[in-house]
Amino acid sequence: MHHLDQNRPKGLATALAHARSPRPPSPDTPAGPAVPAWPGRPQTVPEAGPADLDLRALLRLSLRASDGSGRLRPAPSAGALHPVDTELVLGAGCPLPPGRYGYDPLRDHVHFLGGRTDTAPPGIRAELSVTARRTISHYGHRAWPLLLLDAGHAAAALFLAARALGMTAPELHLDGEAELPLAFLRIAPSLPAPGAPVGSQPPERPPAPEELLARRSAPPPLPGRPAPEALRAVLTAATRAGGSDLRWCVAVGPPRPGLMELGTDGRTLRRFAVGEARPTLAVWAAGQAWIADAGAVLLAIGCPQDADEPHIRRAHLRAGFAVHLAHVTARHHGVAARPVGSWQQADLGAALGATPGRDWVVHALALGTLHADEENTP
Ligand SMILES: Cc1cc2nc3c(=O)[nH]c(=O)nc-3n(C[C@H](O)[C@H](O)[C@H](O)COP(=O)(O)O)c2cc1C
Repeated sequence: MHHLDQNRPKGLATALAHARSPRPPSPDTPAGPAVPAWPGRPQTVPEAGPADLDLRALLRLSLRASDGSGRLRPAPSAGALHPVDTELVLGAGCPLPPGRYGYDPLRDHVHFLGGRTDTAPPGIRAELSVTARRTISHYGHRAWPLLLLDAGHAAAALFLAARALGMTAPELHLDGEAELPLAFLRIAPSLPAPGAPVGSQPPERPPAPEELLARRSAPPPLPGRPAPEALRAVLTAATRAGGSDLRWCVAVGPPRPGLMELGTDGRTLRRFAVGEARPTLAVWAAGQAWIADAGAVLLAIGCPQDADEPHIRRAHLRAGFAVHLAHVTARHHGVAARPVGSWQQADLGAALGATPGRDWVVHALALGTLHADEENTP
């Protein structure tokens, strides 16, 4: 219904090849409505009962627009276009009757879409898809990687919101196998008993709800090289969350410019390439000059030229997911950050003298510790 033809690119591999080409996009076209025209009566999500998952808080910390401007603030989005749509399949243990619902993040309403109410598994299944037209309206043929990255960021926002609320760690489905939904998360209804060890939680620190609401993409420029401890924490967060298709590194500038990755012990920083990469990264990232002066740039590398569709989806969904977790980690270490998702001809492997076509920049997070005016203060 809301899924336009544009939502199914004729070939994702071709779409990615176009996005990676140097050809600039055409002028903007209308982005269309910010929210799908969900059918049916809108309803608010009720207050959760004592045994219910707090769906209202989950949405507030992840997807709900926090002001009237149409920005869906808790999760970032390329060009602030917010193409990700969410359907919720609710089972037992939720504050609404079982069934499938469409979420309207601007009005914070759900619309009952139907579904067999007796067969929905318990808990929440949040399914993510995209209205491609929104991102295509500005990025044209560069849109598809951004749409997939955006969906990964939205999945991470839901994941972190569930963790912040003490819900059982969500089961993630970012395998890229399906076009629809692109990704989903399942949150089981069982809440940990008060004081009980939380066995299924990942070992990382759960974020505080305020941290998630306060996350913003710092406006460029982002000078100031983060301390090694912060770079290590950001790389660790990204590597753990990034799955097996991606490799992670950071580009840093003087005094010893180069590329660093986590050592095999998973703790130390290892320099694997010497030389200044940031000006090249700035050119590859649609000529965003400020990237050449960023304090550091976290890079997700992978998605070879011959990757099939599930691989392309998986690598980008994972990259968005992991960059979002890295962003929240950076902020926790006092480091400002901004995702950078539009990459052309960014064959890092080839630039380092390895086989061309294999190790592309898929996504990035620019990092900095100073405001531009501080940098020039004696
Ligand atoms: C996938 C993705 C790619 C992005 N790419 C860029 C980029 O190339 N340059 C940039 O300045 N910001 C980029 N951003 C940041 C967005 O502009 C930002 O998220 C949006 O304006 C909303 O602001 P917020 O993150 O503060 O909520 C990107 C964000 C995402 C999620």
